Amino acid sequence: MSHLNSVYLLIILKKDRIMIELHDRQFIPYISASEIDCAIAKMAEQIQNDFKDEIPVFIGVLNGSFMVLTDFLKKYKPLCEVSFITLSSYEGLNSTQNVKQIIGLNHDLTGKSVVVIEDIIDTGSTLETLFEIFSKQNLKQLKFASLFFKPEVFKKMLQVDYIGIEIPDTFIVGYGLDYNGLGRNLPEIYQLKN
Ligand code: IMP
Ligand code: MG
Repeated sequence: MSHLNSVYLLIILKKDRIMIELHDRQFIPYISASEIDCAIAKMAEQIQNDFKDEIPVFIGVLNGSFMVLTDFLKKYKPLCEVSFITLSSYEGLNSTQNVKQIIGLNHDLTGKSVVVIEDIIDTGSTLETLFEIFSKQNLKQLKFASLFFKPEVFKKMLQVDYIGIEIPDTFIVGYGLDYNGLGRNLPEIYQLKN
């Protein structure tokens, strides 16, 4: 076997080893931790420029957005407030279109500038529910940011103001995102293996 062939074999073996299994499915590496870091840094810079004279309230949408919100806040330098809301729409690999509010807002947002920080926007049903919830709060302004966005699947007439990384219609796990509860603690993104 030539030197080149053995290097190739090594890479294949390595790739095989980093494929992961969650429940009944296998996932392969898709987006690295450094790509995620760059995307979040870019979002933090954009939002910092747009909110120069404001103290925005960042709302993390749990469970999925805990990692993106944590890393985002470490990069966002000016004053800000932080709060959370817990919603749920996904079962297994599919969006149910039935978005449940598990834990509501416990923060008076009257007159505030709010930026909702999402992990991923898929069909947009969760975004629509968030829009309905926050539109009733007499805010100064409302913006939406999402680390991942699936433009091929998005069906709503709402604007996503800040997008980290656009991805095709594929199911991903890691960096806060789960498959039936597992995979949230992975520091990078894995894609469902077909
Ligand atoms: P939507 O309501 O269809 O836009 O879906 C949004 C929510 O579904 C996200 O906040 C995630 O919790 C979940 N979700 C959407 N796509 C994925 C994915 O590829 N992997 C894991 N969870 C996802
Ligand atoms: Mg989410």
